[in-house]
Amino acid sequence: MQRLLVTGGAGFIGSNFVHYMLERYNYHLVVYDALTYAGRIENLAAAKNNANFTFVQGDICDLDSIKSAIQQHKIDTIINFAAETHVDRSIMQPDAVIRTNVNGTWALLEAARELGLTRFHQISTDEVYGQIAEPNRSKEHDVFEPRSPYSASKAGAEHIVYAYHITYGLHTTITRGSNNIGPFHYPEKAVPLFTTNAMDDLPIPIYGDGKQMRDYQYVTDHCEGIDVVLHRGVAGEAYNVGTGVETRNIDMAHKILDLLGKPHSLIEYVKDRAGHDRRYALDTSKLRALGWQSQHTFDQALEKTVRWYIDNPGWWRPIKSGEYRDYYHKQYAERQS
Ligand code: NAD
Ligand code: TYD
Repeated sequence: MQRLLVTGGAGFIGSNFVHYMLERYNYHLVVYDALTYAGRIENLAAAKNNANFTFVQGDICDLDSIKSAIQQHKIDTIINFAAETHVDRSIMQPDAVIRTNVNGTWALLEAARELGLTRFHQISTDEVYGQIAEPNRSKEHDVFEPRSPYSASKAGAEHIVYAYHITYGLHTTITRGSNNIGPFHYPEKAVPLFTTNAMDDLPIPIYGDGKQMRDYQYVTDHCEGIDVVLHRGVAGEAYNVGTGVETRNIDMAHKILDLLGKPHSLIEYVKDRAGHDRRYALDTSKLRALGWQSQHTFDQALEKTVRWYIDNPGWWRPIKSGEYRDYYHKQYAERQS
C-alpha cells in the first residue's frame, strides 16, 4: 500500500482523512471526486502543494474514468468514501443514493479486480444495522436491517464488497463508522446545521421528540480507526468505529446552544423524519482489540467542532447561500409551519 485512490476525498470525512494521512505517512494520495454539492475543493487547500497529493475530478460510476485514473497514477489501493450521504436527501431523491452508493461502489470494485489492485477499503456506516433497542449494541456479525434509502444503499454496497472478496479474492476491508463531527461538515447534517443556525439566531429544527440517540465521534478518531484497519485489519472483515457513548439529539442541541451562549428558546420541534431510526449503538471491541481507541469524549468533540464553525464563517456562509437554500426550503418549510 503506497499509492491510494481516495474517492470522495473532497467531502467531510474524506478531506479530514487526506490531511490525517499526509501528516503521518509517505504514501501518495490521489483524491478522485465528482465535486457534487457536498464535495468542496477548498477542503483540500492545505494539501494542494504537497508532492504526495493529486486531485482528479471524476465520477465513481464511470468505470473507464476510474480505470484511467488508476493506471495513470499507478494506484495499488482504493479507499472509498464517495457517497451520497444525507438520509433526508435520500428520502427526497432515492435514485441518487442507489446510483452512487451501489453502482459506484460496484464500478470501483470492478476496476480494482480488472487491474489487480492489492487493497480495497469501503467506508460504511453504523446505519446498515438499522436501529437497535437499549441496552443492546450492534456487533459486526449482526444482521443488517437498514430502513432508509441511504442505509439500504450502504448495506447493498457492503454486500458487493464482500462478494468481490469471496468470489474474486480481492483483499477488502470495511469500517462501519458512527456519526462523525468536526471541520468541513456540510451544514445539512444535524451538528453543523444546529451550530450555524444558532450562530445566526435561527430556529434549531428538532425532528420528532428529539430523543433519538446517536454516537457522535470526532472525525479524526474515525480516521485513526480507518488507518488501523488499513494496516492491521484482516481481509474480508468489517470493523465498527465509534465512541460507544450515545447522546440524545435534544441534549446535543442544548449543549451547542450553551457553547454558543444562545437561548434554548431557539429550539423548534418539527415534523419527524420518515422512518427515523431511534438509536444506533456500536460494540467496538473488535477494533479496540487491534489497538485503537477514541481520543475525544463527546463534549470535547462537540466543543472543538463548534469552535471550528465560529472560526471559519468563510467556509460555511457561502455554502448556506447557494444550492443549500433551495434544499433547506424544501426540507424545512412545511415541517416548521
Ligand atoms: P460527504 O457528503 O461530506 O462527502 C461525499 C463526497 O463524495 C463528496 O466530496 C462528493 O463530491 C463525493 N461524491 C459523491 N458522489 C460521487 C460520485 N458519484 N463520484 C465521485 N465522488 C462523489 O460525506 P461524508 O460525511 O464525508 O461521508 C464519507 C463516507 O463516510 C460516506 O461513504 C458515508 O456513507 C460514510 N459515513 C459517514 C458518516 C458521517 O457521519 N458523515 C458516518 C459513517 C459513515
Ligand atoms: P444527521 O446528521 O442527518 O445524521 P443521521 O441521520 O445520518 O444519523 O442527523 C442526526 C440526528 O439528528 C438524527 O437523529 C436526525 C436528527 N436531525 C434533527 O433532529 N433535525 C435536523 O434538522 C437534522 C438534519 C437531523
